Amino acid sequence: MFAALKSLHSASSGRRILSLFDSPDRARDFSVTACGMLFDYSKTNIDAEIRRALLDLTERADLAGKRDAMFSGAKINETEGRAVLHTALRTPDDARILVDGTDVMPGVVATRNRMARFATGLREGEITTPGGRRFTDVVNIGIGGSDLGPAMAHIALSPYADGPRCHFVSNVDGAHIHDTLALCPPETTLVIIASKTFTTIETMTNAAAARDWLAAKVGADSAGGHLCALSSNLDRTADWGIAPERVFGFEDWVGGRYSVWGPIGLSLMLAIGAERFRAFCRGAAEMDAHFRQAEGADNMPVMLALVGIWHNQICGHATRAVLPYEQRLARLPAYLQQLEMESNGKSVAMDGADLPCDSGPVVWGEPGTNGQHAFYQLIHQGTRVVPCEFMIGARGHEPELAAQHRLLIANCLAQSEALMRGRSLEEATALMAARGLTGAELDRQARHRVFPGNRPSTTLVYDLLDPATLGRILALYEHRVFVEGVILGINSFDQWGVELGKELATALGPMVDGSEDPAGKDGSTRMLLARLRG
Ligand code: F6P
Repeated sequence: MFAALKSLHSASSGRRILSLFDSPDRARDFSVTACGMLFDYSKTNIDAEIRRALLDLTERADLAGKRDAMFSGAKINETEGRAVLHTALRTPDDARILVDGTDVMPGVVATRNRMARFATGLREGEITTPGGRRFTDVVNIGIGGSDLGPAMAHIALSPYADGPRCHFVSNVDGAHIHDTLALCPPETTLVIIASKTFTTIETMTNAAAARDWLAAKVGADSAGGHLCALSSNLDRTADWGIAPERVFGFEDWVGGRYSVWGPIGLSLMLAIGAERFRAFCRGAAEMDAHFRQAEGADNMPVMLALVGIWHNQICGHATRAVLPYEQRLARLPAYLQQLEMESNGKSVAMDGADLPCDSGPVVWGEPGTNGQHAFYQLIHQGTRVVPCEFMIGARGHEPELAAQHRLLIANCLAQSEALMRGRSLEEATALMAARGLTGAELDRQARHRVFPGNRPSTTLVYDLLDPATLGRILALYEHRVFVEGVILGINSFDQWGVELGKELATALGPMVDGSEDPAGKDGSTRMLLARLRG
């Protein structure tokens, strides 16, 4: 599948990335500018020939055809028989997108407007609690895509949050709902139950706990006035007794991990306001337009994806680190873990055949500079290469702390330079000799201070992390996942791999509470059950 690229890899693996900068235009030629952002992949071992071979993959996989099929509402999620149209949620009102011959945009626009009216009404105190008070707190109960997007974006855009305080509960561990509700005044708290299916056990269990809490504190009759639901399962929201005007629905063509742009983003809209939420969607729509129009190496999501394929499937680097030099993107790695690993962590291709190559990589990360003082040791001197994806803004939101932002920039740039440049044994020896070491001790100490270097990284630069920029970054990564999936022949929009554990957890329930005998279970599970049941 990747024969040409593998031989290019063998031929170039002894080359130092630094040597590619002998070409004075290296940085310019191996970077992409789009939507006000700069994506620099010049600190990788990709040269013009490798890039051509990578771009060939997109031709052979008919990326353009598949991309257009996605945007036009074709049912490209074949294992679930669904269209993939999260992009419709951020498409301008006047567009037309047909699914099964019906334009989905009137429904999208109607929900968008209802959300905006609700958010504005609540923020301005026109929509109140049953007791007539202004809502002060919002608790979003959801998990996976019904949590990670709004929770991550809420932190990312905290300088713009001027609405009610928002809290997020996801884990079925009772500690999460307990500790969160302890922070909220029940009389003025809105509980949002966010679940596409409205069947997810964690969410429904936490939602029931929150409803009981409300009933106990404000009375069963008033509890409903504190609830709201985001779901595509309107029968289930009705069974729950949630008033239709408090339900914001969406269609099955919005995948959970792609859903922050619509109703699942309600908590974010409540926090930052409808206008800024619109800017967030506009930023993503700009990236959509770029993805649809830009050719080959000028296309930022395509190049981000190809760098990923190069490092993972060709060079064999099994993980990649996402390293935002932006404290407010602290939850971005977790968000991208779901986006990338739930989408492309598959070993069967769309047609049911075994995948002839590695699936998508393990994604992990932490904001810089914190990671520097934790796991960068391994990134610099460990035996495995971890391709790093740095990201940083030209400006922070705190002009009075501009000096700290300059320090942040210096650290970010220093890391990618250090990874590429490294430090040779000669340099390390000279360093230690200058400190007075000699003989065997000099040799020994010098060896510990060698950095192999030649470790690839990319850097994404944006101006300021405002709502539109966050939208652009998230859409960039969504399309990256799509491009990688198309090249690998994967269906990036299903998630069968989460099912088995859910089934077994359901079966284990009665064994945990002792109503069923675990005789049929393996010895380890029986021992652990016995220990946990005390
Ligand atoms: O179990 C995985 C998953 O289905 C994710 O894909 C999804 O984001 C999450 O669970 C939550 O699902 P729901 O929104 O239906 O509660």
